[in-house]
Amino acid sequence: MAAPREFRDALPFPVQMSFELTTKCPLRCPQCYCSLEHGEDLDFGRAVEVLKDGAEHGLLTVNLSGGETMLYPRIYDLLEECAKLGVSGNIAISGYGVDKAVVRRLIEAGVNAIFVSLNGSTEEINAHTRDGYGYALNALELLQEADFPRTAVNFVAHDANCDDFLNMVDLCDRYGVSHLVVMAAKPTSKHELDTVPDAEQTVRLVKDIKQAQLHSKVNIGVENCYSPLKAWLGRSFLFGNANTGIQKGCSAGRSMMSLDVNGDFTPCRQLMFPEKFKTIGEYWARSETLNEIRNIEDSPGQPCKDCGLGRYCLSCLAVNYKIEGKLMKCNTRCPVAGIVPA
Ligand SMILES: C[S@@+](CC[C@H](N)C(=O)[O-])C[C@H]1O[C@@H](n2cnc3c(N)ncnc32)[C@H](O)[C@@H]1O
Repeated sequence: MAAPREFRDALPFPVQMSFELTTKCPLRCPQCYCSLEHGEDLDFGRAVEVLKDGAEHGLLTVNLSGGETMLYPRIYDLLEECAKLGVSGNIAISGYGVDKAVVRRLIEAGVNAIFVSLNGSTEEINAHTRDGYGYALNALELLQEADFPRTAVNFVAHDANCDDFLNMVDLCDRYGVSHLVVMAAKPTSKHELDTVPDAEQTVRLVKDIKQAQLHSKVNIGVENCYSPLKAWLGRSFLFGNANTGIQKGCSAGRSMMSLDVNGDFTPCRQLMFPEKFKTIGEYWARSETLNEIRNIEDSPGQPCKDCGLGRYCLSCLAVNYKIEGKLMKCNTRCPVAGIVPA
């Protein structure tokens, strides 16, 4: 067997993929980055082909997303394929269409983790950025009733909800949620991003995350895309900042990639540079976009260039790309850059 190829700042093969299953969705969340106009589904045959290819070469996890994943016609079949191939099949849901029978079928299909999306502990707070508060709570209740052990909550931090974080921790505790994931706000489908928590809110959020990590049963995670927060959280007088290496930030093209609804490969759900390759390995080795992304730290723009946390951070590349039109290491919306001395 040929030795795996090495790529600069990237694993030899992605360990994680996200699949855009559908662009159908009954919700219209104010924050949403998806284009939901066309109502298409990912071809099931293509999804399985990519899954088999991935499983054979080291793919560990597939995150199924949408649109609304529960509207994908073959959602249970796809989860069964994941389980059969030994790939962890995670699913993000709003809670729409979920009842007792759906929960049972998801579990029977071998789902790994179920991520329920919720951006606030009250309907009012959630509604600033998401629809479907009732759907999400109903899903959490049913998953708790079913004793499902791997329920997670996706919480996207915005200026309107980050002060609600500790209430979210309490809510997750009440519903027996295993993981609460703090996600970075990315540009909306209209390429707007004006809801990022400010510097003061970010400092408070970090304090609250630390408190919850110490005192709550709920595991608190921060997604890689939220690299400024991870870098700020990772500061320590004793051991230095551990937010380094391939996983320190944006993992597009480094450890993960995506399959879009048309069956094409993209670096991630946010960076829509679709390319047609038959296999993951070909795309991983030959894509010019991935090559550009892997070398992106060579010439950072401001504020990242002079940020004291610059070497511990690789912020979501889609922010700059979608707002300023440039693919480069640079996040003009970063609240952390303003509070870290150079
Ligand atoms: C696009 S949704 C699709 C799956 C499902 N319909 C749901 O609501 O969870 C997947 C995740 O992306 C998050 N999301 C949507 N728009 C976002 C944005 N602009 N920034 C960050 N996360 C966003 C959602 O809150 C959700 O957790």
